Amino acid sequence: MKVIHTVSGLNLALQSIRCKGDSIGFVPTMGALHEGHATLIRQSIAENECTVVSLFVNPTQFNNRNDLLLYPRTPEVDEQLLQELGVNILFAPSVEEVYPEPDNRVFDFGILDKVMEGRYRPGHFNGVAQVVSRLFSFVQPDKAYFGEKDFQQLSIVREMTAMLHIPVEIVGVPIVREKSGLAMSSRNQRLSLAEQEQASQIYHVLCESLQKKRDNAPHEIASWVVQEINNVPGLRVEYYEIVDGYSLQPLTTWGESDWPVGCIAVYCGEVRLIDNISYR
Ligand code: PAJ
Repeated sequence: MKVIHTVSGLNLALQSIRCKGDSIGFVPTMGALHEGHATLIRQSIAENECTVVSLFVNPTQFNNRNDLLLYPRTPEVDEQLLQELGVNILFAPSVEEVYPEPDNRVFDFGILDKVMEGRYRPGHFNGVAQVVSRLFSFVQPDKAYFGEKDFQQLSIVREMTAMLHIPVEIVGVPIVREKSGLAMSSRNQRLSLAEQEQASQIYHVLCESLQKKRDNAPHEIASWVVQEINNVPGLRVEYYEIVDGYSLQPLTTWGESDWPVGCIAVYCGEVRLIDNISYR
């Protein structure tokens, strides 16, 4: 595995790969890697001749300074894991390398980033679009892999790619969970054992809510989920919305969508967690 810190180094390494006509798969990450990341990476390795993984904690997507400061960083362990997985190139640039000048671009995603994460984390998706579009221009991948855990991020990345006419195929990968049901996340490292136990109730309640679909409207299920999760000590729901999986607009009736998805953000102590479930 080549470990590269500069854009010029990356260009040099990718030149020969492109000359051979090999396909490039790309997995952008912020590190503190876990089995969720590893699943995306394995899929990229299975589908491409060359896999590039980026490890970059992007400051422009953090709307909360503390969240950025406390974001877990485990570069040595990450490098070891990537090596073992068989990644070809690890791209780990500095902030100055990615943003030699401040990025002042403002993206307009219409309604897509006005709801849920976009509403509660203003500026977050603009930062994601800034960094992902830059990384795409550095790597120029054939395929790029994103987790369905960050459901709205996946929609935004698809929209941005279409908007900027970037010739890359965006591949969505299903959520990887702990045995307890808790969606894997780098932020889980900040949870105590007791908190992990509490947080695992999120997925249990979401699963139970699927059974209620026949007899309840989306807003009734949403209220039930919020109440059940808020009843778990240590958990505080920020939002739960059942939306159309394409437009991300909240549903009033099940008939409005052939892909209803419930998206949740929950504070477990100080740590903010997100998850989602399909009602299809
Ligand atoms: P990060 O949180 O490190 O996640 C990197 C990728 O792994 C994202 O596509 C995310 O959806 C996916 N992922 C994380 N946990 C997962 C899980 N439990 N199951 C499946 N996939 C999972 O998301 C980001 O970084 C950043 O916003 C980034 C796209 C790198 C831009 O900075």
